[in-house]
Amino acid sequence: MSSVAVYPGSFDPITNGHIDLLERALKMFDTVIIAIAVNVGKEPLFSANERYEMIKESLSDHPLRDRVKVELLNGLLVDYVQSLNATTIVRGLRAVSDFEYEFQMALMNRKLNPEIETAFIMTGMRWIYISSRIIKEVVRSGGDVAGLVPDGVAKKLTERLSLKKSL
Ligand code: PNS
Repeated sequence: MSSVAVYPGSFDPITNGHIDLLERALKMFDTVIIAIAVNVGKEPLFSANERYEMIKESLSDHPLRDRVKVELLNGLLVDYVQSLNATTIVRGLRAVSDFEYEFQMALMNRKLNPEIETAFIMTGMRWIYISSRIIKEVVRSGGDVAGLVPDGVAKKLTERLSLKKSL
C-alpha cells in the first residue's frame, strides 16, 4: 500500500527550506501533497494561484516531482486529509520558537479528527533561519535572497515588492 502525507502551509512564497522539508518527507512517504491553505492570521503577498504556480515551477525539474502533488485547500485541513484517505500531516520544525504554535495546531487537529497524526520533521541546518516572512522582509529592504529561494521565486519577489515600493 502506498503512503501519502499532506504537507500544508501558506507557502507565501515557497523557500528552499520548504523544499528541503519536502525531500525529507519523501524519504518517509511515497507521495507528498503540498496543500496551500488559508492561515487566517496572515495577509498573503501572493494569491493562492500565484503560490501554486511558483511551487509547480520550482519543482518542475525536481527528480522526485512525480511523487509530489500541489493542491489549493480552502476548508479545514483535517477534512481535506480525510477526504484523501490519508492519515498524516507533516510540518517542519526549525527552532524551539516554532514549537508552541505547532504544538497547538497539532493538538487542535487531533481534537478535530483523532484519526489524523501530525509528524514533525527537523529542517536541515542550512535553512534553520529561513522563513517566508524573513525572506519578504529582506527583499522589501533591497537585500539579496539568491540561494535561499528558488530562482523564479526570487524574481517574482523582487518584481512584486519593488512594485509595491513604487506605489
Ligand atoms: O505556513 P503556515 O501559515 O504556518 O501554515 C498554517 C496552516 C495554513 C497549515 C494552517 O493555518 C491551516 O491548517 N489552515 C487550514 C485551515 C485549518 O484547518 N485551520 C485549523 C488549524 S488547527
